Amino acid sequence: MQDFSTRVLAWYDVYGRKHLPWQAPGNPNYIYYTWVSEIMLQQTQVTTVIPYFNAFIARFPDVNALAIADSDEVMALWAGLGYYARARHLHQAAKIIHNDYQGRFPDTFDSLQALPGIGRSTAGAILSLALGQRHAILDGNVKRVLCRHARVAGHPSQAKVSQALWRLAENYTPNERCASYTQAMMDLGATVCTRTKPKCHQCPVQVDCQARIDGCVSEYPSKKTK
Ligand code: ADE
Ligand code: SF4
Repeated sequence: MQDFSTRVLAWYDVYGRKHLPWQAPGNPNYIYYTWVSEIMLQQTQVTTVIPYFNAFIARFPDVNALAIADSDEVMALWAGLGYYARARHLHQAAKIIHNDYQGRFPDTFDSLQALPGIGRSTAGAILSLALGQRHAILDGNVKRVLCRHARVAGHPSQAKVSQALWRLAENYTPNERCASYTQAMMDLGATVCTRTKPKCHQCPVQVDCQARIDGCVSEYPSKKTK
């Protein structure tokens, strides 16, 4: 059997999203676009994000334009997206990049993760999507795929569950085509391995998905226990 990432990448080549407005390889602001879009996508779906992203980039085309902007204007462009701490952190981080990095976007994992609003998964997503660096991601979509595929029980808020999922995510991440693989896992979770009624018959990893084989997909991810 082909390994996990090979099957996921072959699926991505046919069904994955390749023409989202922030997918602009070669653009000098690609890492900035990727950052803005990943922050918007943290709690919001792609179709909702697209018009907000376009308006945001039209007004703040690069990180320096965002850094020197008035916070009222940043918040006004975020209005309707919700989770407003995301916009405040985005603005704070832009000012740090403007002041401490001469406006050049940091491109190492530790420097990115140190910025407001960027955790382990978002740092990995930005660096893999924009620069092709090999980093694992583990957002809500990817957690769902992995916990079903390997039948990982327990809620990700438990440290040992989170550790198990991160280990799987790291092990499956290929050495090549890291940008496509990261986008593929997000797309797989968002469009095939959905929270309700997953489309297992369309899934590239169905043959060795333990929850599907055992007929218990609906039990994963486990509910949070108090
Ligand atoms: N969710 C978070 N990041 C995403 C992306 N790049 N594409 C689709 N859904 C996402
Ligand atoms: Fe998710 Fe179904 Fe694919 Fe398993 S087979 S990873 S449950 S879509």
